[in-house]
Amino acid sequence: MNMRLWRYEDLNEIAELESECFSQDPWNVRMLAECFLSPHFVGVLMEEDGAVTAYGGIGVAEDEAELQLIATAEMYRRCGRGKLILARLEEEAKSRGAKKMFLEVRVSNSAALLMYLKDGFEGIYTRPRYYRNGEDAVVMKKELV
Ligand SMILES: CC(C)(COP(=O)(O)OP(=O)(O)OC[C@H]1O[C@@H](n2cnc3c(N)ncnc32)[C@H](O)[C@@H]1OP(=O)(O)O)[C@@H](O)C(=O)NCCC(=O)NCCS
Repeated sequence: MNMRLWRYEDLNEIAELESECFSQDPWNVRMLAECFLSPHFVGVLMEEDGAVTAYGGIGVAEDEAELQLIATAEMYRRCGRGKLILARLEEEAKSRGAKKMFLEVRVSNSAALLMYLKDGFEGIYTRPRYYRNGEDAVVMKKELV
């Protein structure tokens, strides 16, 4: 198991996992490629036997980081990879000066909500009908100490 930063050549594989992991609004190759143009973006992934099994990305601006994407390939879930990706992203955020991290999650996404709560995030408010299908988002925050 090897955790490392994204490389440009990972983008097709990450885009494929995005469409497997998200039935609605997955990031496509173009959206992922734009991350490389941003000095604020940090993407990390887990690679096992040459395949990407989990990945995530944050944007960091001044003392705030925002979790932009995170997923584990379906057959590798519930074995701690999501937690490890999140922990590494928090370290990357702190090392770039972030003091807090925010994220948005669908109210129906209990797996992700539970992962974030267990990791120390707390819900601070909801954004009604935030997603294209009319679903609400929960905005969560964690102080990075
Ligand atoms: C959310 C997601 C990234 C979790 O990845 P994972 O590798 O399975 O996560 P972990 O194994 O590290 O689990 C960490 C904790 O999250 C919680 N959790 C994860 N999946 C869960 C599930 N299906 N049911 C209940 N709790 C769950 C648990 O508290 C778990 O800790 P535990 O196993 O010690 O009980 C994964 O389910 C996924 O890729 N979902 C689709 C993409 C997605 O929704 N991303 C988040 C968008 S906001």
